[in-house]
Amino acid sequence: VRHRLPPRVAERLRALGERPIDPTEKGFGSLAWRPVGAAGAGGPGAGAGNPARVSAASLAAARPALHAGGFTYPLLTLRDSALQNNVAAMAAFCGRAGVALAPHGKTTMSPELAGLQLAHGAWGITVASVGQLQMYRSFGFPRLLLANELVDPAGIAWLAGELARDPGFEAYCYVDSLDGVQILDRALTRHRAGRALPVLVEIGHASGRTGCRTDEQALEVAKAAEATGTLTVAGVAGYEGGPRGESQADTLELVAAFCRRLRGLADALVAAGVSRNEPIVTAGGSAFFDVVARELTAPGARAVTAILRSGCYLTHDHGIYAKISPATRGVAGAPDLRPALELWALVVSRPEPGLALLGAGRRDVGFDSGSPLPLRVVRRDGSRSRVPATDGWRVTDLNDQHAFLHLPEDAALAPGDVVGLGISHPCTTLDKWRVLMVLNDDDRVIEAVHSFF
Ligand SMILES: Cc1ncc(COP(=O)(O)O)c(C=O)c1O
Repeated sequence: VRHRLPPRVAERLRALGERPIDPTEKGFGSLAWRPVGAAGAGGPGAGAGNPARVSAASLAAARPALHAGGFTYPLLTLRDSALQNNVAAMAAFCGRAGVALAPHGKTTMSPELAGLQLAHGAWGITVASVGQLQMYRSFGFPRLLLANELVDPAGIAWLAGELARDPGFEAYCYVDSLDGVQILDRALTRHRAGRALPVLVEIGHASGRTGCRTDEQALEVAKAAEATGTLTVAGVAGYEGGPRGESQADTLELVAAFCRRLRGLADALVAAGVSRNEPIVTAGGSAFFDVVARELTAPGARAVTAILRSGCYLTHDHGIYAKISPATRGVAGAPDLRPALELWALVVSRPEPGLALLGAGRRDVGFDSGSPLPLRVVRRDGSRSRVPATDGWRVTDLNDQHAFLHLPEDAALAPGDVVGLGISHPCTTLDKWRVLMVLNDDDRVIEAVHSFF
């Protein structure tokens, strides 16, 4: 089901699509100096004497072939069929599970991709900082959940002004301390928002990240927040991504227990009269959202609004998420997510048998959760082949601008060939790119999306 985008979001996304893509963006430098015709990325009407600027809209009109469109390498691309599959599959899963979805926008920081998520029924967009909130707000997003404590004075003042200016704008943030409550209250007393700011009391676990360590602290923070008048407690929040058990079964039980604690706290806050009825209970990244959805919707003392915040599900990957996602774990009814991201790098050197150096490195791809995975080769003559999973092609190291690709000594791979690589951990790959091309299954560019990290 496709929902209509809020008109302001639709208008700003349209304008973003027309925005010229600067030649300083990775991959686009050659196009600015050599505008190409309909066969290339400049689009119809571009050519000598009419140097039309490249934009997402011009790419969508021209649909250039990725490997013949005048782009330089490396390039990061999104596979449209995988994206469309993932956004729809996750929306369907959430619908069946009875949870809402506020996809984490820090994963892509892309207004176009967040727009796609809204079009598939997302409740709102999650962010991790007030700067990220401001980015999405600048594209008109009407409901934003800051999944973090907000103690930034300039950020609070700005948020108050934005809430006062637009009655249609809804924002939420976390609190986990009396100091945090006081900081928000003081700033919102000085800079009036015209309505109470809804906050979620965050709980955490020992040695974990943010969040009240005990339920008693959480109740105390909630009471303090509700007593201010500038804040109102909308529910509770937590992130299950931290605790790991000895085995996967142990980890899943830790996640489940954490969610039960969240759910219990929500009941307790309503019972104590310090949270609105039907409170929000939010948790859930992209690894364990099946467990989170199950636990947050388990029959309980009170009705709650359960909200997942998964971010990486949208692009998925060939690495950590592929290994741990609910479908991989064999969970019945889990969305069948497909990896959408590919990094395309040129072979720049074959200095020894069994070794190829690719022109892409740590500047281009995340390396915190595993190396990129060679998937396919596009040779200089245009012929294509898949890298068999068992064939011993492995990226063993990354420098800033190079990848060390080890491969069988008899493997045919020459300088000028292009290797397509899968990635592990979307967040730390996407933040290295500001323009990503979206490909159809024939490797034609059908649109481009921006990111604002
Ligand atoms: C608080 C919070 N919520 C949600 C997410 C999204 O999880 P994922 O990146 O697995 O989709 C994260 C990711 O780090 C997070 O920190």
